[in-house]
Amino acid sequence: MKVLVATEKPFAAVAVDGIRKVVEDAGYELALLEKYTSPAELLDAVATADALIIRSDKVTPEVIAAAPSLKIVVRAGAGYDNVDLEAASAAGVVVENTPGQNSNAVAELVLGMAVMAARNMYAGTSGFELKGKRLGLQAFGQVGRNVARIAAGFGMEVSAFDPYCPAEVMTEAGVKPVDSVEALYRDNQFVSIHIPATPQTKGSIGYDLITSMPKGGVLINSARKEVIDEAGLDRALADRTDLKYVADVAPACAAELEQKYPGRVFFTPKKMGAQTAEANINAGIAAANQVVAYLRDGIDRFRVN
Ligand code: 3PG
Repeated sequence: MKVLVATEKPFAAVAVDGIRKVVEDAGYELALLEKYTSPAELLDAVATADALIIRSDKVTPEVIAAAPSLKIVVRAGAGYDNVDLEAASAAGVVVENTPGQNSNAVAELVLGMAVMAARNMYAGTSGFELKGKRLGLQAFGQVGRNVARIAAGFGMEVSAFDPYCPAEVMTEAGVKPVDSVEALYRDNQFVSIHIPATPQTKGSIGYDLITSMPKGGVLINSARKEVIDEAGLDRALADRTDLKYVADVAPACAAELEQKYPGRVFFTPKKMGAQTAEANINAGIAAANQVVAYLRDGIDRFRVN
C-alpha cells in the first residue's frame, strides 16, 4: 500500500520523519510530493496512491478520478473546504481531518497579530495594550478555545458567539457567551474569526458587521479569506479610518488594500498559522496514524464525509 504525502507547503522535516516512521512501521510505502507547482504533478502522483495526506492542497474531482486505488484522504489540519467531499464520497473515498492538532499554533499567531495591530504594525508610533480590552471570538472551536486561554493571560475580556457550542462550555473556560454575531462585532474592539468556509459562511462578514465595531476596532482573520465580503471590507476600511484588518489568509484584493490603507492592514505572504514544527508534527503524525488505523483496521473516527 502506498501513502502519498502531497504538500504544496511542506511540513517541517522532523514531521515528515515522524510520518515516515508511522507509515513504514505499518508495512506501507511512503511517497512524498512537496512544493509542487502545478495540479498536473498531483494528478500524476496520486495515480498509484492508496492513501493521501494533504494540507490546504486542493483535492478536486479530477484528483479523485486520477486516483483509482485511493481509499482515504486525510487533511492534516482542521479545515477541509479544499476537499471535494461529494466526489470523494461518490468514489467511496473516506475523508478525515485532524481536529485540534494545529490549533495552538494558529492561536499563538492570532495573539501575535493582535499585538502587532495594537502596536501600529511595529512602525515606531505609540500604540496601545491588550490588557483590559475586549476580544470577541466568532466561533468557539479548538482554535477559539486556545485563543481564549492565551488572551486571558494578556488580561483581555473574552466573549464568544457560537450557535453550535453550549454556553456552559464557554463559561467554564471563563468566556462570556454572546447571543448574536451582531452583538459580538458591536461590543468588542478585537474580533477574531474562527468559522469554517461553508456555503453559509462565505462572504458573510462585510460592511455592516465590520463598521459596527467600536472605535479602534481590529478584525483578525486566521480562518479563511472566503468568509469575508471583500468589497464590504474595502468600503469599511475607507469609511472608518480607525479600523484595522490583520489576516493570515490574504484576501484576493490584498495588494489593493495594502496600497490604499498602509499601516492598517497586514497579510502573511503564505498561510502560516499552522506553520510550526509542533503543529506539523502533531497534525502530520495524527494524519499518518489515522491512515494506518483505516487501512489496517477500518477505523474512521475522524471521517467528515
Ligand atoms: C487548517 O485548516 O488546519 C489551517 O488553516 C492550516 O492549514 P495549512 O495546513 O495549509 O497550514
